[in-house]
Amino acid sequence: MNAVNVAPCILVVFGGTGDLTHRKLIPALYNLEHQNLLSSRFAVVAVGRRDKTDEEYRNEAYNSVKKYSRFEINDDIWNNLCKRLFYKKLDFLNIEGYAGLNAFLSVIDNEFQTEGNRVYYLATRPENFEIIIENLHISKMAVNTQKPWQRIVIEKPFGNNLASARQLNKKISEVFSERNIYRIDHYLGKEMVQSIMGVRFFNTLFEPLWSNKYIDNIQISSCETIGIENRGEYYEKTGALGDMVQNHMLQMLALLAMEPPEDFNAEAIRDEKVKALSSVKEVTPCSAESVVLGQYLEGEVEGRKVPGYRQERKVSPESETETFAALKTELDNPRWKGVPFYIRTGKRLAAKTTDIVIQLKPSANISSSVYSGTQEPNLLVIKIQPKEELFIQFNTKKPGIQWKVCPVKMTYCQKCKVCEAEANSPEAYEKLIIDVINGDSTLFTRWDEVEKSWAFIEKIKVLKEKGKCRLSYYKPGTWGPEESDRLLERDGRHWWNL
Ligand code: BG6
Repeated sequence: MNAVNVAPCILVVFGGTGDLTHRKLIPALYNLEHQNLLSSRFAVVAVGRRDKTDEEYRNEAYNSVKKYSRFEINDDIWNNLCKRLFYKKLDFLNIEGYAGLNAFLSVIDNEFQTEGNRVYYLATRPENFEIIIENLHISKMAVNTQKPWQRIVIEKPFGNNLASARQLNKKISEVFSERNIYRIDHYLGKEMVQSIMGVRFFNTLFEPLWSNKYIDNIQISSCETIGIENRGEYYEKTGALGDMVQNHMLQMLALLAMEPPEDFNAEAIRDEKVKALSSVKEVTPCSAESVVLGQYLEGEVEGRKVPGYRQERKVSPESETETFAALKTELDNPRWKGVPFYIRTGKRLAAKTTDIVIQLKPSANISSSVYSGTQEPNLLVIKIQPKEELFIQFNTKKPGIQWKVCPVKMTYCQKCKVCEAEANSPEAYEKLIIDVINGDSTLFTRWDEVEKSWAFIEKIKVLKEKGKCRLSYYKPGTWGPEESDRLLERDGRHWWNL
């Protein structure tokens, strides 16, 4: 999973005028060009339903780069990318235009010598995924050859529930083989999420501690201050469980909990992740109290009045959709028996922060008259965003005449790296785009992972429907409903809001 290959190909983005393309994909492509990571035999074709010339599209793309790229725009670099960026109008729901698209791609292929390789990136609304795949199939634009190759990238959400995910997967698998399917979970492209394996498997300092022998509990939190923005229609179908837990949160859990892979390649790593996900204990009626679901009320954020979830656009005024979820789960295997994994995610919370806290068990205490004070637990904290940081909290002697211990912190800050070039971490999408071009699916979810995760969420949704997991309400700017704190207090623990 190391080599940065810059294979020749055309990246065809369906949904080329959409928000994701402008906020994430185009800036990521510019950043790759900035680092000289794209082949000169690489081109991008943005496909959209609106009328637009290449020139108009390029101007819009330029503005997006200016606004969202992590590197300041440099006109020479931009021009290099720009001449390989094209716009093609197509009603992608209608088979008729596909022959024209195919012919257009052949012209681009000839011009840039892309060897007929194509990445089809589906950045449209999810309800269009199946029909686009079908149309690619009918028009023989996806034929599963090894050379040239055609790969498909599917954005989130992969279905709204287990049944729709299965149906979507069936459709894709009829057309593309698994090795050509790239299901995006952008969290896997985040630098510090990738670091989880680095920390775990390349350190004798941590490796021996990684089990129920020394770990007391693991907390995985992804908190946001924003509401659902203009995504009421989508969010009503997924809620926090489908939007965040099914994918990002369970993927982080899998990376933390999996056994060491036999090899550091896509299949071996994903095999282990699936095994970890299969060991996650399902929520049953008896363990329903280990799930807290919440919904934000109206209130104030940074002095600004914000609507409650039920007042958001395209949300039912009686909606029972959760915008917050906290849960306690356990893995049914010898390594993790007895160690709770607490997961928490929500909108309109006190801070935008994603982090993982690994809390160790207390050491065997020395009872001595010279020692006084309570012992704080050792923590290993992986801060994923906005800071990219890893710190260890441990105890040492407090300076002074008396013999007391106090907790101290040792920090590795990824963004404050000594070397300037390394200080500016790549955005998740940069890494993911390069990996697709490179044919490396390590950081993409395999179908069995998606299926296991949906099955886990499905059980909770059923219990919710039966009234076993009730909805609580919370004020914006807090850490969610009080029940979330009680979930840990019951176990004599608390959330680490670090
Ligand atoms: C997306 C969810 O997958 O992740 C959004 O659909 C959420 O609701 C987003 O806001 C969070 O991503 P990040 O990278 O900002 O943590």
